[in-house]
Amino acid sequence: MEKREIINRDDIKQLVDSFYDKVNADELISFIFRDVAKVDWAHHLPIMYDFWESLLLDSGSYGRNAMEPHFKLNKLVPLQPAYFDRWLQLFEATVTELFTGEKANLALTRARSIKGIMAFKMNQINHPDTDKSIPLVNPGNDQ
Ligand code: HEM
Repeated sequence: MEKREIINRDDIKQLVDSFYDKVNADELISFIFRDVAKVDWAHHLPIMYDFWESLLLDSGSYGRNAMEPHFKLNKLVPLQPAYFDRWLQLFEATVTELFTGEKANLALTRARSIKGIMAFKMNQINHPDTDKSIPLVNPGNDQ
């Protein structure tokens, strides 16, 4: 199939649906969605369309707190770096298999950045006494 640009909400839907197809087939992280969070997909998917449409197409349709459910989830199952790495691997594979162009690159950049922050926050909670350095480029932070 020829790769396309991400132009409208239908493209976002295809991206999100294909990503969760991969997530749900994944041997490492599918249990979190299926058995721990017991995700109601009819409810969750439109929220994810809004999220990615806002990030990539400036729709303004997402006005929620993306971090919050992950803090709750982290209490049920500690979200390890390996889970985040797999999440990102599946997301990157989805984007690069289906899409090309500026918005596709933006999707990769945004996903990597949010994943990095989310993984860092969870790691701080799960291992408060270990690595305190911020994993982002931040010259002011050398503690
Ligand atoms: C190990 C990695 C991750 C796991 C296991 C995970 C799992 C989940 C689960 C179970 C939910 C709640 C679904 C529901 O409402 O039932 C959720 C929501 C969400 N996740 Fe993740 N997630 C991960 C990483 C990420 C990352 C890196 C991003 C962003 C780039 C992200 C974006 C979102 C958003 C936007 C929501 C909806 C929040 C809302 O309710 O408004 N997730 N995630």
